[in-house]
Parts: sequence; structure tokens; C-alpha cells
Amino acid sequence: MGNLADLKITLVGAGGKMGTRISNNLVNAPFQLNCVESSERNLKNLQERNLEVVSLEHAVPESDYVILAVPDIYIKDVSAQVSPLLKSGAVIITLDPAAAYANQLVINDYNTSIVAHPCHPSVFLERSTKEEYEDSFGGVAAPQDVVVAVHSGDDKKLIEALEIIKLMYAPVIQCHVITVEQMAILEPTLVETITCMIGTVFKESLDETIKLGVPEEAAKAMLYGHINIALAVALKGTNPFSDACLIAIELGKEAIIKPEWKKVFEKEHLDLTIQKMLKLT
Ligand SMILES: NC(=O)c1ccc[n+]([C@@H]2O[C@H](COP(=O)([O-])OP(=O)(O)OC[C@H]3O[C@@H](n4cnc5c(N)ncnc54)[C@H](O)[C@@H]3O)[C@@H](O)[C@H]2O)c1
Repeated sequence: MGNLADLKITLVGAGGKMGTRISNNLVNAPFQLNCVESSERNLKNLQERNLEVVSLEHAVPESDYVILAVPDIYIKDVSAQVSPLLKSGAVIITLDPAAAYANQLVINDYNTSIVAHPCHPSVFLERSTKEEYEDSFGGVAAPQDVVVAVHSGDDKKLIEALEIIKLMYAPVIQCHVITVEQMAILEPTLVETITCMIGTVFKESLDETIKLGVPEEAAKAMLYGHINIALAVALKGTNPFSDACLIAIELGKEAIIKPEWKKVFEKEHLDLTIQKMLKLT
């Protein structure tokens, strides 16, 4: 591994949501950071943070790493612009597996592409400071894990890339190196199709409860506390659900969950979900 201080890194989409988080973390890193941004509004955001913006054509040819913090639907077009400009041995880092999984990422044989996605701080994280409690997304104060996969190219590039990825998403506890296919099972299937969907069901259930006349504060107190205990019991086995609760769980599953729901883990469902997310169908 070379010296990080000798590296040049380009962040494309530096003024977007992830670009802002990553540029906040990399601005004080030892290497040179080039910010690229195309929208007027987000250019302003970078200027307000005193970050100089350069063109893709100027930044990419000298870069050792190019981070694509652009929406997944644009990864194909942006990587097609970036790849012809890349020097041999340079690495593209994307932030979500969808485009790589669906073969939408344009990459040369002589370059490496790596996907690095933040896990976000765990619901079971032991937080101690106010900053840690306020950092639900991660990348500011609350430590998180990251999942990383080499999509194409040289696996040996991973050693240095992991150091950069840890700075991008800092503070990081651990990077889990997996495959792009495994990462696609995690996201979208595990965390978006299922977990985020259930999060929205919690919210709709809260609204229904309040509509029935239960005072909002009482409903929120019961829901938030029970989300906590349900996760502790179901995922950590801290203590068993009561016998009566187990009956309610089974009746709830029968009423709400389709018997064949686990087909969301089948490849056909995953492929269709990603095609729809990337607006390919
Ligand atoms: N937002 C999240 O919570 C989140 C979490 C994890 C991973 N990701 C991933 O991060 C990536 C970026 O998502 P986001 O939510 O930050 O998107 P975003 O829309 O907030 O930001 C994208 C930025 O890219 C810029 N951009 C688009 N095309 C460009 C081009 N050709 N040249 C330069 N800049 C260009 C846009 O102007 C915008 O500022 C995606 O791969 C997404 O899946 C997002």
C-alpha cells in the first residue's frame, strides 16, 4: 500500500446527499480531494463550504480513485464519461450495489471497481455522547460497519481502498468484504424491500392508532418502547415473548404477511426490483 498522502481522489456528485457527507469527512484527509458537481443548487452548497469545484475532464485523468456519489440511475452515463479518462490502475468506488449488479457500470479492463455501502449505526450500538445519539445516519459521530465488494478488476486494490472507505464513512468499526451479489441481497432485499418497508408500516400503524382516538403521546410511547423490546427479543433473544404475545404474533402474521413472502429473496424478484429501481423497465 502506498502513502495515502500521495493519492488524488475525485468525488463526483460532491454536493449531493452522500457527496456532502463524504466530502465533509474527506476534506481533512491526507490526500488531495477534487470535487465535481453538475447542479447549480449543489454547486452553491459546495461553495458555501469553501470547497473548490473542478471539471470531470480536469480531475479524473490525474485521479487514483474516483468516487461516484451520483444517483444510481445515472451511474451508467457518468461511468461512461469517467472510464475513458481514467489512468491505468485507477479505482472507481460506487456507493450502492444496484448499478454494478445490473451491469450498468462502465469500467475498463485495466481499472478496478469497488462498491462500498454504509450499514448505518446499529440499533444495538451503545451510544454515550449527545453527538452519537443524534447521528442516526452514521458518518459523523456514531460508529458503523460498512459492506464492501470488488465488482471487477484487481482484488489487491482492496487493501488501500479500505483505508479510504473507512475515512469516507468514519467512524467505522468494521468493513465486511462480500460479493456484489451478496450486497444486492442485503440492499435492496433485506434492508429496503423488507426493513424500510416495515418502518413505513410502523408509521401507518401509528397513524391508524391515533385515528382511533388513542392520544398521540401515549401511542408513540408504546410504539417506540415496543419497537425496542421487539427487536431485542426477536434479534438478540434477550428474553422470550410472553405466551399471549406469541398468539398475537401468529394471528398478526396470518392477517398481514402473505404465506409466500420469502420469494422476495429469489433472484427473479431481486433482479426485477433492481431493474425498476434503475428505471430500466
Ligand atoms: N442518500 C442515501 O441515504 C444513500 C445511502 C447510501 C448510499 N447511497 C448511494 O449514494 C449515491 C448517491 O445518492 P444520493 O442520495 O447522495 O444522490 P443525490 O441525488 O442526493 O446526489 C447526487 C449528486 O450527483 C450530482 N450529479 C448527478 N450527475 C452528475 C454528473 N454527471 N456530474 C457531476 N455531478 C452529478 C447531482 O447534482 C447531485 O448533487 C447513490 O449510489 C445512492 O444509492 C445513498
